[in-house]
Amino acid sequence: LDFEIIRNENPVSAEDRAGILADPGWGQHFTDHMITIRYHKTKGWHDAKLQPYGPITLDPAAQVLHYAQELFEGLKAYRQADGSVVMFRPFANAARMNTSAKRMAMPEIPEEVFVEALELLVSTDRDWVPTTEGHSLYLRPFMFATTRLLGVNQPADEYLFMIIASPSGNYYARGIKPVTVWLSQDYTRAAPGGTGAAKTGGNYAASFAGQAQAVAHGCDQVVWLDAVEHRWVEEVGSMNLMFVYGSGAQPRILTPALTGTLLPGITRDSMLTLAPDLGIQVEEGKINIDEWQHGCESGELTEVFGCGTAAIISPVGAVKGADRAWTIGDGEPGPISMRLREELIGIQFGRRPDPYNWVHKV
Ligand code: PLP
Ligand code: COI
Repeated sequence: LDFEIIRNENPVSAEDRAGILADPGWGQHFTDHMITIRYHKTKGWHDAKLQPYGPITLDPAAQVLHYAQELFEGLKAYRQADGSVVMFRPFANAARMNTSAKRMAMPEIPEEVFVEALELLVSTDRDWVPTTEGHSLYLRPFMFATTRLLGVNQPADEYLFMIIASPSGNYYARGIKPVTVWLSQDYTRAAPGGTGAAKTGGNYAASFAGQAQAVAHGCDQVVWLDAVEHRWVEEVGSMNLMFVYGSGAQPRILTPALTGTLLPGITRDSMLTLAPDLGIQVEEGKINIDEWQHGCESGELTEVFGCGTAAIISPVGAVKGADRAWTIGDGEPGPISMRLREELIGIQFGRRPDPYNWVHKV
């Protein structure tokens, strides 16, 4: 695809940018440019542009505003010690976007176009990639239905694919201090046959009421349980969960299997690949909330952590529900979580070897 390049003639000043990068927070600031690519059923992908970041216009009857045909992705660009910039596993995000697209009856985008568009945006806005260790440039590709259409008998014919970029610090304001999670009994995130495995906005829209309950109970995020028995652990709001049985000679990690109701996280996949190299066994299976509580109380289950692009590796320190509460280990980050975090971040920032070719130079 040929990209038309429209430079931002009024970019954020170097001084203001430095101020933002000194304390980026999460998801509040955006770079000078964005990508837009249009799709039409008969024309395919066309009208690709790099253009100044800014508002877009939509028809009030654009299908996405009514029926939420939408997808998004999330990945990051990292500054290396030599000043160069890399992205982490961009082809994995491209593949997941296309899997999500099938579920949402949306067009697939060629993986090379997805990655080329990311490269163009990151190289143009390269100065926005933080140089502070641990900070990065969060990349948000997304796609939605623009056809003017109130009927629901067919998916839209027209879509807009976009990428925006946001310098990011810690997802949780408290940094690496363990998060507290809330067991949601009132709400369900995803049911069998639904859209839980697709990265579509509706899954998140449906989660805010549960998230508000978690916050009202002093917790950071919701643990989503299965829709049928409300007992089996699926994932949390923005992370997959890893359960570490670290008390024996051979540590082991259990993570909920991909049953179609949880997001197939790329960080999750990276953990399943890296842990065995560090002598930690991995298993995809099932765990219910009684097993979780008893495992912690008996001392067999020593650590639990969440993993995701935004949250990286975030230890879970305590669990609360309507009728129960317990802590994990001593409530502090555990050694296996921290070892895996160090390994992952080490690869992303170029401090460790990259045996699986996950790092993609821009
Ligand atoms: N689960 C949910 C619901 C998420 O939103 C995310 C974030 O993307 C994840 C898991 C982790 O996925 P990944 O590691 O690909 O970022
Ligand atoms: C990500 O980690 O990329 C996410 O999408 C999390 C986001 C929903 C805040």
